[in-house]
Amino acid sequence: MVIIRKFKIVDTALVAKIVSSTFKRYNKQEGTKEAAGRFINFYNPEKNIEKIKLAFSKSDIFFVAVDNKKIIGMIRGKKDRVVNLFVNGKYHKRGIGSKLMEKFEKSCIKKGSKNIKLRASIYAVSFYEKAGYKKTTGIRNFMGLKIYPMKKNV
Ligand SMILES: CC(C)(COP(=O)(O)OP(=O)(O)OC[C@H]1O[C@@H](n2cnc3c(N)ncnc32)[C@H](O)[C@@H]1OP(=O)(O)O)[C@@H](O)C(=O)NCCC(=O)NCCS
Repeated sequence: MVIIRKFKIVDTALVAKIVSSTFKRYNKQEGTKEAAGRFINFYNPEKNIEKIKLAFSKSDIFFVAVDNKKIIGMIRGKKDRVVNLFVNGKYHKRGIGSKLMEKFEKSCIKKGSKNIKLRASIYAVSFYEKAGYKKTTGIRNFMGLKIYPMKKNV
């Protein structure tokens, strides 16, 4: 059974690995080669653990999805913004991304947020639309990656 729990510092390397390997498989073609390479290297726990720890420490809201003690997904951000959402490819389309979003949104509401923004990867736009997010502009360039700014009132 998949459970959603709060992120712990000891999870750092495993969570970073999910971010970098899932991005490599599903999102890497959505930006310039340099930008994709930067993203993948930034979240490589073998190369960049201290900077990853620092980035992760800035997330007020951070959950992981765990299946039988194995971390298979993550979501992090602040009360009005999702920064990262990644689910291990082997577990896609089983409702895990939705469970992570639900937990995240509940936390945002508890902290007083009225809306949540995010920068959707091209791959994830349909997923976010199903979750009630709407594009606020056309496609944009964010640090060399193609994204759609999206927003939901909660
Ligand atoms: C986007 C992502 C987190 C979705 O996770 P998931 O666990 O597969 O999502 P769910 O199973 O909860 O999907 C919920 C709904 O969205 C749909 N959906 C999920 N991914 C989809 C996709 N890529 N395209 C179209 N629909 C999608 C599902 O079919 C499901 O629809 P349903 O409610 O009608 O059955 C996952 O695909 C992922 O990690 N992608 C790569 C990283 C990424 O792009 N992250 C977003 C960065 S902004």
